[in-house]
Amino acid sequence: GSSRRPAADKGLKDYYKDYFPVGVAVGPQSIKGPEAALIKAQFNSVTPENAMKMGPIHPEENRYFWTDADAIVDFAQANKLRVRGHTLCWHEQTPKWLFKDAQGKQVSKDVLLARLKSHIETVVKRYKGRIYAWDVVNEAIDDNPQAFLRNSEWYQICGEDFIVKAFEYAHAADPKAVLFYNDYNTERPEKRERVYRLLKKLKDAGVPVHGVGLQGHWSIFEPTEQELRTAIEQFASLGLQVQITELDVSVYPWEKERRARRPDESDAYTPELEQKQAAQYQMFFRVFRDYKKHLTGVTFWNVSDKYTWLDTYPVPGRKNYPLLFDQNLQPKKAYQAVVKF
Ligand code: XIL
Repeated sequence: GSSRRPAADKGLKDYYKDYFPVGVAVGPQSIKGPEAALIKAQFNSVTPENAMKMGPIHPEENRYFWTDADAIVDFAQANKLRVRGHTLCWHEQTPKWLFKDAQGKQVSKDVLLARLKSHIETVVKRYKGRIYAWDVVNEAIDDNPQAFLRNSEWYQICGEDFIVKAFEYAHAADPKAVLFYNDYNTERPEKRERVYRLLKKLKDAGVPVHGVGLQGHWSIFEPTEQELRTAIEQFASLGLQVQITELDVSVYPWEKERRARRPDESDAYTPELEQKQAAQYQMFFRVFRDYKKHLTGVTFWNVSDKYTWLDTYPVPGRKNYPLLFDQNLQPKKAYQAVVKF
C-alpha cells in the first residue's frame, strides 16, 4: 500500500541501509524503557553522550568508573548496534586531578602526556573490538578566527603535540579502530579552513587520523547547502572519511555566548518552525545521500525532543525541539522529510 505514514516496522537505519549507519547519542537512562525500544527500532549505531568523557570515566588518577560506559556497550552488543567512542581528549568535562600534581601545581608536559597515554590505553583496550571508531581529539580549534589552536590546558602544557600523541596512543591501543578528529562549526569558512589546515598537517606527518567528525549542531538558519557541500568535499579531498557525529537542528539561531533566558522570550514550537525544520532536515539528508561515498555515518545528538542538551545550552530554561521525534517519542514532520526520497 502507499500509506503516508512510515511503516511501523521500518526505521531510519532501514531507509538508509544502502547509505550509512544512523546513530544516536545515549545515556544510561535512554537504554532502558520506551526510549530503548525506539533506539532499537530506528538506529544501528550509538555514541555515549557523556559516559566515556574523561571526567565521568576517569574521576581519579587511580580509579575508573566503568558502570555507565559498560552498560551502553553491553546494550549495543546485545542489540547489534555499532558503537562510536566519544571522546578521548577534550578540554571540557576533564577530571579535577588531570592537570595538577599532588601539591596543586600544574604538571609538566611529560607528566601530562604520560597521563594521556595511560588513559587512552586503558579505555581503548577495554573496548577493543567492540568500539569501531573513536573521537580521539575533540574541539581543538579556537573559536577566534585569528587564532589557530584553542588555548586549552592541553595546549598550554603540551603545545600542538597533545593532538599527535593522542592519535598515536589510540592507534597503538587498537590498530583497527577508525580514529576521528571531531569539531563544531566546521562548515563556517573560517573554521573549516583551520580544521582543514590541522588535518592536512596531521596527514602529511603520517599521524594515524582516518576521519573527521562534523558535529552538526546546526539550526534552521545554518549551514547553507553550499557550505555543507564544500566542507564535506574539502575534508574528503584529504582522503578522510567524514561522519556527522552530533546532529541536531535548533529552532533558534546559534548564539556565541551562554546567556539567561529573557522573560519575554517565547519557546513555542509553532507549525511554521516545524515546517522550516523539516525542510532543513530534508536538505541535509539529500546532501548526505549525495556524498555516501565519503560519509560513513550520521549520528543524532539524542533520541527525542523530550531530552536534548539544547534545553540548557546556550540558553538555560529555553525549550528546544531539535530532533526527529517529539516529546512523546512520535515521529515529527522532519522524520517524514528525511525518509521520503
Ligand atoms: C554535551 C552533552 O550533550 C551534555 O549532556 C553535557 O552536559 C555537555 O556535553 N560537543 C560535544 C559533546 O562534543 O560532547 C557535547 O555534549 C555537545 C557539544
